[in-house]
Amino acid sequence: MKIKKGIVLAGGSGSRLYPLTVASNKQLLPIYDKPVIYYPLTTLMLAGIREILVISTPKDLSAIEMLLGTGEQFGINILYQAQEKPNGLPEAFILGEKFIDGNPVAMILGDNFFHGHGLSEAVFNPAQNLLGAHIFTYNVEDPERYGIVVLDEKENVLDIEEKPVNPKSSLAVTGLYYFDGSVSERAKKLKPSSRGELEIVDLIKSYIVQSKISITQLSRGYVWFDAGTPKSLLDASQYVEVIQSRQGTFIASPEEVAWRMGFVSDEEFKMVLLKMPKSKYQEYLLKLIKS
Ligand code: G1P
Repeated sequence: MKIKKGIVLAGGSGSRLYPLTVASNKQLLPIYDKPVIYYPLTTLMLAGIREILVISTPKDLSAIEMLLGTGEQFGINILYQAQEKPNGLPEAFILGEKFIDGNPVAMILGDNFFHGHGLSEAVFNPAQNLLGAHIFTYNVEDPERYGIVVLDEKENVLDIEEKPVNPKSSLAVTGLYYFDGSVSERAKKLKPSSRGELEIVDLIKSYIVQSKISITQLSRGYVWFDAGTPKSLLDASQYVEVIQSRQGTFIASPEEVAWRMGFVSDEEFKMVLLKMPKSKYQEYLLKLIKS
């Protein structure tokens, strides 16, 4: 089935970014010239998703809503839901049960940044006819920081482990996940792990044991950052700055993606741009229309 709904999980205490996150939510900090959340939001939009639920802490929800609003300016519909405590990633599917309503759904972590030639196809195609679960993996230097999958030679997923001390592979599970309509029921059956949270790897395991999982291996032509530490925020910012100033393009502008995806008409796009303050951002988008 085709995925039409998506969740951006923008919660968490952001403790690794302390004290940056005392007064601000991690997802509102900058990656160079845009708020962190623009990057995962546009990834969902590139997958063709227009119904979006943003989940965050009660404290941060209103600031995120101030930024994104109803989503109308991006040709999408955004709803908001509070997560009282960080009880683990799969809780998103319990809190979002009504929103999901038994439909297939994508989830992206609010600090995950993907970029690269062909990314649109890589995220769009598997969303068009999903069976079971679909995950995106990326080869990393430091697998002990991530969920890790072990594959056989035919790319079947054999196992998955969260932050293993002795990783059996270097294939990290990125923070973009597609699940079928059974995901809320599955999430409700999970038991908290030893660290007291529901674990995304346990949710994925429930699909692995039924052989209902497929993967996309994002090759080295892509970049993937999780902007969860001061260094990764800086790395991502420098990356964006270098690409943008070299190419004269903007990475992860939801207004541009909405226009390119046909979520808004030329006329609607123009109206949105004219309401923006004079800025480099507006200047860039206005140039797109003229070209
Ligand atoms: C989470 C997941 C982990 C995944 C990572 C991707 O970890 O638990 O499996 O590899 O996101 O960003 P966290 O970064 O929340 O520790």
